Amino acid sequence: MPMTSLSSPLIERTSWKKLLIHRKIFDQTNLKELFHQDPERGTKWTLQSAGLFLDYSKNHLTEETIKLLLSLADESGLRDRIDEMFRGERINTSENRSVLHVALRTPKGEKIMVDGEDVVAQVHAVLERMARFSHSIRSGEWRGHSGKPIKNIINIGIGGSDLGPVMAYEALRHYSDRFMTFRFISNVDATDFVEATRDLDPAETLFIVASKTFGTLETLTNAHSARDWLLQGLGGDQRAVAKHFVAVSTNAPKVAAFGIDTANMFGFWDWVGGRYSMDSAIGLSTMIAIGADHFYQLLAGFHEMDEHFKNAPFEANMPVLLGLLSIWYNNFFGAQTVAILPYEQYLKRFPAYLQQLTMESNGKHVTLHGEEVTVNTGPIYWGEPGTNGQHSFYQLIHQGTRFIPCDFIAFYKSLNPLGTHHDLLLSNVFAQAQALAFGKTAQEVQAEGTPTSLLPHRVFKGNRPSNILLADVLTPSTLGKLVALYEHNVFTQGAIWGINSFDQWGVELGKVLAQKIIPQLQSSSEPMLNHDSSTNHLISLYRKNKI
Ligand code: F6P
Repeated sequence: MPMTSLSSPLIERTSWKKLLIHRKIFDQTNLKELFHQDPERGTKWTLQSAGLFLDYSKNHLTEETIKLLLSLADESGLRDRIDEMFRGERINTSENRSVLHVALRTPKGEKIMVDGEDVVAQVHAVLERMARFSHSIRSGEWRGHSGKPIKNIINIGIGGSDLGPVMAYEALRHYSDRFMTFRFISNVDATDFVEATRDLDPAETLFIVASKTFGTLETLTNAHSARDWLLQGLGGDQRAVAKHFVAVSTNAPKVAAFGIDTANMFGFWDWVGGRYSMDSAIGLSTMIAIGADHFYQLLAGFHEMDEHFKNAPFEANMPVLLGLLSIWYNNFFGAQTVAILPYEQYLKRFPAYLQQLTMESNGKHVTLHGEEVTVNTGPIYWGEPGTNGQHSFYQLIHQGTRFIPCDFIAFYKSLNPLGTHHDLLLSNVFAQAQALAFGKTAQEVQAEGTPTSLLPHRVFKGNRPSNILLADVLTPSTLGKLVALYEHNVFTQGAIWGINSFDQWGVELGKVLAQKIIPQLQSSSEPMLNHDSSTNHLISLYRKNKI
């Protein structure tokens, strides 16, 4: 078994027990006090690495906290787990697979061996095919069935085969070919398909059917509708499919069975998890949008963060520190969630992307060895870009009863400098983190002449933790670093809990039950229903009302 066997269950580790005791200190102090005690705190608890700056000073921590969290990482075998992943060991034990998304961005010429084969060479062979294909689309060399160049790209996929592509397209739209249109269809709800295609000319449209398994209900249903739409628009000639459909998958037989020539298929491998695949061939739409050079810069950004994660000592390791802080709040402060608050409009889909990455990875109830976990695992990640969120849910973060650690993400420079906008935007990042940490006392509110009856309503207790991540400007490379930062943050958390962050059995049951219900909704004769009474009733109600 490749996995490091851990010395003791999590809650019995010395550092865990010490952290439980140490936690009590924070009932006697607060962030204001900690800043008061140490005037250097705002510069001390910061880290500049791989082109990202992290200010983690506004967290409930002292030197002792960090010391104990680092001991927890050591006691949990984090170093070995990292090395096992980078060596390509089969750390996804329930699926008996390596976990090698880091190979997707390993520079050409380096080697990572899996089952006697160098996967880095395979990765680059696919990247080079993708680059040639992207160029032929962007240059107009690739023609549709009726001879027109392709102007519209529609990615059909769901989960990791959608969220990464759509997030990356939105994030890197500044670098994209503005003469082309990019759309993303994921939902089996036909509205998604109809609205994405209604104003497009099939003769100028290319579908990328992105599915690791090529067996996903939503994706195949949408792909069939796309083929019908295309053939209807192009006079029914089946040969049109070859010019208007490509596939991204690990499953060549199923791609062929759908009717897509495997010459038009871009492959990847079972050691790439769906939610870790945006930098594999799943990123084909991204590459077409921004061009191959920018895509390689994205990969270089990922790789820089990978190297940092692999090599930096844990006390100066950004993903490790962020992961440990998440453990600290999740397990010692009872935090249920983490808010992701990008102050960059181009990152508007980043929180949604992180939801799959974090929650599909660490939403687990058993350890690697199949034993029930004894502490809470994966927190709920959510968020919206600032400043919009400030006028919506921030009220609850500032004055509600819940404890919500926040990650603010911002950039020194705007890609769209306009008047004073960027200064106003960044002033809000700094002000929000400041307000969360230090609040406003009753005396301060009173000093402003507030009537006594309103005092309790206007007090901000503060003492709410946050991290601030800053980078120069949003580039493909920065995006790669940010995504890799959270991938490895998730890895760190999963390693401490001793869970498998790389399987997703929890999505299966609903899929299987839906397969049973589909024919019962469609059959012309009244079906025999033998579910629970609620499901039976709902099916009957739907059948009666759907006509
Ligand atoms: O249902 C969950 C899931 O399996 C995700 O893990 C995955 O990203 C998504 O479905 C799509 O899967 P596929 O790429 O195989 O269509």
